[in-house]
Amino acid sequence: MSSDHGKTLSTAEHGDEPAFPLPAHRHRLTDTSPRAARRAERQVAGMFVLSALLIVAFIAAYVAIPTSTFVNLGVIGIVQLSNLILGATFGLSILLIGIGAIQWAKKLMSDEEVTDERHPLGSPQEDRDEALAAFQMGVTESGFVERKIVRRTLIGALALFPVPLIVLLKDMGPLPGDSLRNTIWRKGSRIVIDVTGQPVKPQDMGVGTLISASPEDLNTIQEEQGNQNERAKASIILVRMAPDEIRSQQSPKGATWDYQGILAFSKICTHVGCPIALYQKATHHLLCPCHQSTFDLADSGNVVFGPANRRMPQLPITVDSEGYLVAQGDFQEPVGPSFWERG
Ligand code: FES
Repeated sequence: MSSDHGKTLSTAEHGDEPAFPLPAHRHRLTDTSPRAARRAERQVAGMFVLSALLIVAFIAAYVAIPTSTFVNLGVIGIVQLSNLILGATFGLSILLIGIGAIQWAKKLMSDEEVTDERHPLGSPQEDRDEALAAFQMGVTESGFVERKIVRRTLIGALALFPVPLIVLLKDMGPLPGDSLRNTIWRKGSRIVIDVTGQPVKPQDMGVGTLISASPEDLNTIQEEQGNQNERAKASIILVRMAPDEIRSQQSPKGATWDYQGILAFSKICTHVGCPIALYQKATHHLLCPCHQSTFDLADSGNVVFGPANRRMPQLPITVDSEGYLVAQGDFQEPVGPSFWERG
């Protein structure tokens, strides 16, 4: 918009002085140099073209990469190759559209500020009457009221329209059913550090320590099953506190599920399943970063705050003949979110 036009818009009722004077407009390089403007235009167009190519790559990857192909990304772990490529191509494509749009707005669109005088927003009554009459005439002429068969079939077709979206929900995978009731933890399963795969001895953990861990044979099982379900279900945290700080455990009377103050709990929040590892040594509270559910690990993992309505399941542990921490058995209650009411 030209400065002249801007000035007209910013002129107040009283005189030629603008009611709200704006700072003088500072020209950008692309305003003054056609060459710079063309370069910026090429950059923006390049991002949009690249974004389109990434969408083509996304479709090709969706068709070509079998879901049974996995890659080992070291520290991150084993991931499904198709998910990796689909996520990367789609994410980058969106990112490039976003960056391109920002560049377009910053470098090529007019950045001159203007003010406009306010005026009443409501239309005069005669305009409203006219619009209503035009609408009613449109309804009559369309035959929407008279042609019942067309109207009803259209409504039927529109009612079915969302069905494909619901059908696509199937791609989100099967309902968990009873699959959350059991994990691969067995009597004698060694507990290993999640990232390094090292088995843990009690002396490796000082009071206040938290370790993310999993069963030793997880990777073997995972390769056999070709999915991440077992990893998610079997993830645990180990925490150590002074034995006399433990106020209660989930173990039945006469049994103990800790080993010398080391307790194992599921790592999956019982609210909607975020992994948790934020532990406060002084209070023994475990805080879920997603919606702030807080669990007291010194008191059976009970909920002390937040939307979760079920305690964190505790894994019974002990040591084997070589002094390594092992499970006494599987969890005694389902791990994970509690919204599938388990009775
Ligand atoms: S997932 Fe943990 S509080 Fe919501």
